[in-house]
Amino acid sequence: MSHVSEQPVERVTIPILQRWKEEGRRLVVSTAYDAVAARIADPVVDIILVGDSVGNVCLGFENTLPVSVAMMNHHLEAVARTKPRALLVADMPFLSFHLSVEETIRNAGGFLQRGAAAVKLEGGDKRIEMVRALVDCEIPVMGHLGLTPQSINVMGGFKVQGRKADAALRLLDDAHRLQEAGCFALVLEGIPAELAARATSSLTIPTIGIGAGPDCSGQVLVFHDVLGLTEGHRPKFVRAYVEGFQLLHDALSRWATDVRSGAFPGHQESYRLPEGLGEAIANWAPSNLT
Ligand code: KIV
Repeated sequence: MSHVSEQPVERVTIPILQRWKEEGRRLVVSTAYDAVAARIADPVVDIILVGDSVGNVCLGFENTLPVSVAMMNHHLEAVARTKPRALLVADMPFLSFHLSVEETIRNAGGFLQRGAAAVKLEGGDKRIEMVRALVDCEIPVMGHLGLTPQSINVMGGFKVQGRKADAALRLLDDAHRLQEAGCFALVLEGIPAELAARATSSLTIPTIGIGAGPDCSGQVLVFHDVLGLTEGHRPKFVRAYVEGFQLLHDALSRWATDVRSGAFPGHQESYRLPEGLGEAIANWAPSNLT
């Protein structure tokens, strides 16, 4: 199988990401939940995130809250089998890093044992103890602040965060606390562009924005959103580069039409008997049964 490589083949590591931040090179991050998506994304992106968004994007849940460690392990293993050169980050799902330090380390360590190079977890101040414990165990952590989907019940829905002074200042404090606790990067989701820009300019670690304006160190989007594979409401921050859903639907419809009309399969999609065997088959009758 051949890939068109748009990036150097060098395996992306955390020190390389840090160097790119210092050089002002923007980071490109995409989700992938299976081997097909990983193979498409890997030549293009710097980080592959096995996000808990798999819950609403692929598994039919309304949000990410029902996603379990077992589900994440299943999807992470599929992506890890492709041995991506991009840094592979696994998302810690709801309740996998809240109950105890021991359970948090076991869940995150399990992700590393399955091929992830780092984990991502949502939250600021309240999660610092867990971030420190993971970093102490040599488990690299990516933070995630702003519109954190695991907090929808507290936020009252998917609402832009940090629009009031106290919330904006709290986010900046949290960003610095996460950096001090050892996070190697920080996702900023659903916040005003000016706030993301201030966080980015004041932190030494890279920020990765989604709905956080153009001044982050990099950008992340859900693979299915970039390819127009998700149906229904498209958030303001999404840009689809192809209408994949419609494109794939049309292709599948043409195949279905060909099956119904008998135009598929044709001669070239069929196997043939060797010369001479056709006659024996034609002469066979049920009465020949011995
Ligand atoms: O789960 C996910 O896909 C994410 C990204 C959108 C940042 O957390």
